[in-house]
Amino acid sequence: MSERGAAGPGPAAMQVCRIMRPDDANVAGNVHGGTVLKMIEEAGAIISTRHCNCRAGEPCVAALARVERTDFLSPMCIGEVATVSAEITYTSKHSVEVQVSVLSENILTGAKKVANKATLWYVPLSLKNVNKVVEVPPMQYARKEQEDEGRKRYEEQKLDRLETKQRNGDVIFPVINPEPHTVGYSQSSLIHLVGPSDCTLLGFVHGGVTMKLMDEVAGIVAARHCKTNIVTASVDAINFHEKIKKGSVITVSGRMTFTSNKSMEIEVFVDADPFVDEPQERYRAVSAFFTYVSLSKEGKPLPVPQLLAETEDEKRRFEEGKGRYLQSKAKRQAQAQPAARQ
Ligand code: COA
Repeated sequence: MSERGAAGPGPAAMQVCRIMRPDDANVAGNVHGGTVLKMIEEAGAIISTRHCNCRAGEPCVAALARVERTDFLSPMCIGEVATVSAEITYTSKHSVEVQVSVLSENILTGAKKVANKATLWYVPLSLKNVNKVVEVPPMQYARKEQEDEGRKRYEEQKLDRLETKQRNGDVIFPVINPEPHTVGYSQSSLIHLVGPSDCTLLGFVHGGVTMKLMDEVAGIVAARHCKTNIVTASVDAINFHEKIKKGSVITVSGRMTFTSNKSMEIEVFVDADPFVDEPQERYRAVSAFFTYVSLSKEGKPLPVPQLLAETEDEKRRFEEGKGRYLQSKAKRQAQAQPAARQ
């Protein structure tokens, strides 16, 4: 049993291992951030669905509602083994917090590195009625402070998602003959038909599948902009407000919003068109900011060409991106300082 506490009668922690293959990685052999996000989400979906069904009651499937901001701490390569560990750390009445870490291991040398740590929130939906949110069996905490800390994280994310709920109206239009390093030059889209293998038992898309497609588009935007090897450095908090049904066509679009000296911020939108036996119109299912870094052959971050923001909207988005960049940089530095003093 995990040290953090037992999540009701079901197991509170789980671990899965998988070797990284060429189709998990880019041409330079670095594993895609999207592959990591998909593995993380799969583990989270398993442990939270297991927990939500651990008592007799209405059978349900846990749907991904939110992923907190996550940093990719070290790159993983083809041939390394990823160990994904997931643990339930808090339950509210209708949601489950899962903390996941990904350890990469070189099985020839035994060297291990933490590749990623993420926090995800799942909401159980009834197997009989996809629109019905089911109650979560309360988790038992080993210590009172764990519950208090969990409640604090729950309140914080609730506040954050209320503030960001409406940031969704924008559309990306094609640009004719764009100049290099402008927004229009690197903006990219991908169209995907949602098939059964993309979906949960309830017939809507797994959050991990969506995040993988989003990372793919963001990676194309970054590579088009700087034309070097790029890797995902971080993803800002993502809220999944809308389900995407099997049979829908989704358009995933990305555009660059900001460049610092050595990083690029890309905004990604996912629009769903449920045109098969649904009169519903196309809608924005999710949006998020990805940050990419360009790496040299030795794996060192390289300077990136500066983004040429031309229109008033592009300039405004650039300034907003700069604000997010400065904020997350300050946070990282504050977190690194106590560790450096030890
Ligand atoms: N992040 C974390 N928790 C969330 C959330 C979010 N973005 N949105 C809702 N919740 C939690 C609420 O806090 C609440 O729990 P609580 O009562 O313990 O506080 C619970 O979900 C139900 O909230 P409610 O307001 O009744 O439901 P809703 O109408 O907001 O629906 C979802 C919530 C998650 C069911 C709905 O937004 C949804 O279907 N999203 C898409 C899920 C999905 O398809 N994921 C994969 C996308 S590719």
